[in-house]
Amino acid sequence: MQRRHAFATLAAAALFAIGATGAHAQGAKVKVGFMLPYTGTYAALGNAIENGFRLYVQEQGGKLGGREIEFVKVDDESDPAKATDNVNKLIKRDSVDVIVGTVHSGVAMAMAKAAKDSGTLLIVPNAGADAVTGPMCAPNIFRSSFSNWQPAYAMGEVAAKRGHKKAITITWKYAAGDESVNGFKEAFEKNGGQVVKQLTLPFPNVEFQALLTEIAAAKPDAVYSFFAGGGAVKFVKDYAGAGLNKNIPLYGPGFLTDGTLEAQGDAAQGMLTTLHYADGLNTPRDNAFRLAYAKAYKLQPDVYAVQGYDAAQMLGIGLGAVKGDVSKKAEFAAAIEKAKIDSPRGAFTISKAHNPVQDIYLRKVDGKVNQVSGVAVKGLADPARGCRM
Ligand code: PHB
Repeated sequence: MQRRHAFATLAAAALFAIGATGAHAQGAKVKVGFMLPYTGTYAALGNAIENGFRLYVQEQGGKLGGREIEFVKVDDESDPAKATDNVNKLIKRDSVDVIVGTVHSGVAMAMAKAAKDSGTLLIVPNAGADAVTGPMCAPNIFRSSFSNWQPAYAMGEVAAKRGHKKAITITWKYAAGDESVNGFKEAFEKNGGQVVKQLTLPFPNVEFQALLTEIAAAKPDAVYSFFAGGGAVKFVKDYAGAGLNKNIPLYGPGFLTDGTLEAQGDAAQGMLTTLHYADGLNTPRDNAFRLAYAKAYKLQPDVYAVQGYDAAQMLGIGLGAVKGDVSKKAEFAAAIEKAKIDSPRGAFTISKAHNPVQDIYLRKVDGKVNQVSGVAVKGLADPARGCRM
């Protein structure tokens, strides 16, 4: 009985070993694990990222680097407390070849740690956590989106150049909010402005009234805020509802008004934001992307859809260079590092820390679109403070 059991175990182990090599051999499918928010304030962002990613794969006939792509997914609920368990479902249970995620910076930092420890490829299609391409940077970790510093720094310059002197900031108290405010403050104060008060509330709370009352009483020249998804919809509406938009301009990174204008309506009209994507770019590349996306999903794309699409493009570049063999990590990274990514946002390159080097647009809300009104900062690279690679 015991011997039989031992034999069965041995046979199972051998089968597993064959299976494991087989899975990595050329010809087998590449398993992509989406770890994204499908519920909560960022749910629409997660869906747009997945849509964008799948669109690019479809355009390539379902294959990247000569290998078919299969998907598994986990809803991370934008909950950092569940992040390590969730990412390990993909790494250990599902044995994915590549992880694509996520939106929330706190969740992304736990994912980056797990990716670094296990060596699993990770492409971050949104979360801006500066640490991911800073102190936590790694050869197997890439970002198709931005660092929280990038659009924030650009807005600090814009706001100062528009003549504002005293600003109040307001955001959710977590990595993305803190880093966004820091990036804004750095450029705003370098250019003669001053951040006089930093207001926060816990993520993902939307009880803004007391803080809006504080802003009204302090009468700053401008307000800078980081919110996104459902929270951004409510914040922009409450800001206008309190009448503040008449006298105190509200600025932010473009997340404040991207994918949200339908719901924000009049409250968002005329707002200026900075971001690495905009409506009305009117390039052949962006027009083709927008048409294909609208056809596939009966929806207009937003920055999140673009970031998902470009995450798939980056995976395609890496897999193409290694002919589908994900074990060749150094060649995979080298190909992405020297690539020019043909993004709908405009072509961009990837820094040594693996973050996009990209133009940051100034946009103005006009009806249902974030109309491009110029480039705020050209070819902006994150400083990648603390990255040793
Ligand atoms: C983030 O947590 O890094 C984050 C979330 C939503 C955004 C942008 C950044 O729209």
